[in-house]
Amino acid sequence: MLITYTILYNCSLSFGKLIMKISIISSSHRKNSQSKKISDFIQCDLLKMNSNLDIFSLDLAEVSLPLWSTNKKTGEGVWGDTWNSISKNLDNSDGFILVVPEYGGMATPAAKNIFLLCGNGEFAHKPGLIVSVSSGNGGSYPVSELRSSSYKNTHIMWIPENIIIRNVEEFNPGNHGNNIPDWLDNRIDYVLNLFLSYTHYMSPLRKIINRKDFGNGM
Ligand SMILES: Cc1cc2nc3c(=O)[nH]c(=O)nc-3n(C[C@H](O)[C@H](O)[C@H](O)COP(=O)(O)O)c2cc1C
Repeated sequence: MLITYTILYNCSLSFGKLIMKISIISSSHRKNSQSKKISDFIQCDLLKMNSNLDIFSLDLAEVSLPLWSTNKKTGEGVWGDTWNSISKNLDNSDGFILVVPEYGGMATPAAKNIFLLCGNGEFAHKPGLIVSVSSGNGGSYPVSELRSSSYKNTHIMWIPENIIIRNVEEFNPGNHGNNIPDWLDNRIDYVLNLFLSYTHYMSPLRKIINRKDFGNGM
């Protein structure tokens, strides 16, 4: 098990020094949320794997984007510089990590909203990793909801692995609480390495994408 993991880790490092841009989106509605805590942890972990990564961290609770409406077309207020800067950062990203808490057995409205707001191909044909969090034993519903409903027009490519962090308040690497299993840290590192690999190997594919004629899914 340890040998397998070491091989995988070293494989990813062999191409891991390439510069890639990764966006980490925390989709809690609460400032200083558990999702932001996990986003910050993931950012540190990714940079330990590849210090050349360019990371864009977006906390949807801090930016408080309104729900999508026709006003977005006017480019006024938040839809001016604020949105343009976010959209540009996402557009320049090679891969996405969405940290999503379970609210009422669902993905958060902020998580769903960002998929409506990104209508210009920001996510298109780029790998995405879902990291769901729950203060209890939940966390699976946002995964299944996002896998079934977020990709049609955005064309995000959720990778087949995801991470669920249950009892998230006890998550504290090096000093986890009793309800965080010992294997979780290794699993997270494995999935993050895999995600970086997908991000690297999928990028040439985008050359053949025709969004002009086939911008929305069927
Ligand atoms: C409105 C609301 C609804 C919630 N519903 C669920 C739920 O259905 N399942 C669950 O496991 N946890 C639920 N929780 C608890 C969250 O998992 C927990 O508060 C988690 O820390 C939220 O992440 P955040 O701090 O990033 O917002 C809910 C929390 C809130 C605020």
